[in-house]
Amino acid sequence: MKTAMMAFLFVASTASAHVAPLENFKHKPILADLSDLRALNIPVMAKDEAVGVGYAVVTPEMQQKIQARAHQVGKCGGFEDLSSEVNFTNDFAGMLKSLAEIKAKNDQYFAAPFRAQAVTKNPEIESAMNEVSEENLKATVTWLSSYPNRYNRSSTPNVHVEEMKKRLEAMLASSKVPYEVSLISHGSTPQKSVRVRLTGSTKPNEIVVLGGHLDSINQSWSGKSDAPGADDNASGSANLVEVLRIVSQKAQPQRSVEFFWYAGEESGLLGSAEIAKSYKQEKKDVVAVLQLDMTLYPGSGEFVVGNMTDFTSSWLRDYFKAMNEAYIHGRIIDDQCGYGCSDHASWHRQGYATLMPFEARMNADNPFIHSSRDVINNDSNFKHSAMYSKIGVVFAMDLANSDARQPY
Ligand code: BES
Ligand code: ZN
Repeated sequence: MKTAMMAFLFVASTASAHVAPLENFKHKPILADLSDLRALNIPVMAKDEAVGVGYAVVTPEMQQKIQARAHQVGKCGGFEDLSSEVNFTNDFAGMLKSLAEIKAKNDQYFAAPFRAQAVTKNPEIESAMNEVSEENLKATVTWLSSYPNRYNRSSTPNVHVEEMKKRLEAMLASSKVPYEVSLISHGSTPQKSVRVRLTGSTKPNEIVVLGGHLDSINQSWSGKSDAPGADDNASGSANLVEVLRIVSQKAQPQRSVEFFWYAGEESGLLGSAEIAKSYKQEKKDVVAVLQLDMTLYPGSGEFVVGNMTDFTSSWLRDYFKAMNEAYIHGRIIDDQCGYGCSDHASWHRQGYATLMPFEARMNADNPFIHSSRDVINNDSNFKHSAMYSKIGVVFAMDLANSDARQPY
């Protein structure tokens, strides 16, 4: 990998016998919004006009400029860093091609004359959904945000991960659904991901995935290095625990349902990138992927959902709207991250259908994330957050007991 990087960056220079560590390079290979790259006069090395994504290798100054521009329009990072071992590829043209292929499939879906998804209300799902407890969510967010940080590069990256596993095992002990709790080790980070698998009855090889990242990060210059990450992303992590608590007490689903608490998202989607890649290599039939990342701050109003339309599936977004009409009754507003802003992008890149309902419009998200101030405060709204657990319960129970899948 590192040798490939050398060859790629210094394609015109003579081959060097000495290969420096990747970290020594100040240039970064990135994917970013084509419009941002153009506006900043950054040379684009490969691009896809239709997807609106460009590939560039940028200096730290250029990175800052992209970030500054992204912040102006309410985006967070502004670009996707491809320099980590997992994300790095010298086949950037191939990468853009697969993004374009997914877009073509999404377009094909949109062009179909009849694309309405019907979700019929099932009383069992509705009553399960109403079991979501705000108190439980608050207790889990309080617990997770009490660690100094959950950073994947800290000296103890797995303390909270191991405790999460223990708590999930204790919670599942009374479940009649066959289950498996595991820690997943990674090559790109010493931090582990947690997975719970509820095995399906009649179609165990068809998998419905629900996930969110368990790690946190402090990127502020305030001098305080705590990363409580209450919203980003103790909230989504807690939503998933609550969904699991409820779904694991119901009848065994027909399809398997897998829950993930990913490692190292904040350092470049590390855990999910490895997991999605290995699922693809093993040809696992993942039917749908839900990503919950930040659900506690109702920046666009209570029960307003920002529905990310990039790195997600047009079919699942329609399905989500039908689920919302039958069960949730939130106000869904389509929006974009503009880059692979969370773990759903890892699955999307492997060709799986993903959905990312977010706490607000992108430009109205929690201003305190990635700082020591991302704690439970007066703006934290557990009623709003509970809606995302309800979305999770409906997503798991409806999709795991149906034959629905992306129609291509
Ligand atoms: N939860 C954020 C993503 C996010 C932030 C979405 C604000 C919408 C609004 C996530 O944890 C994150 O910080 N992602 C990184 C990108 C990642 C590839 C390192 C980011 O946005 O900088
Ligand atoms: Zn974050």
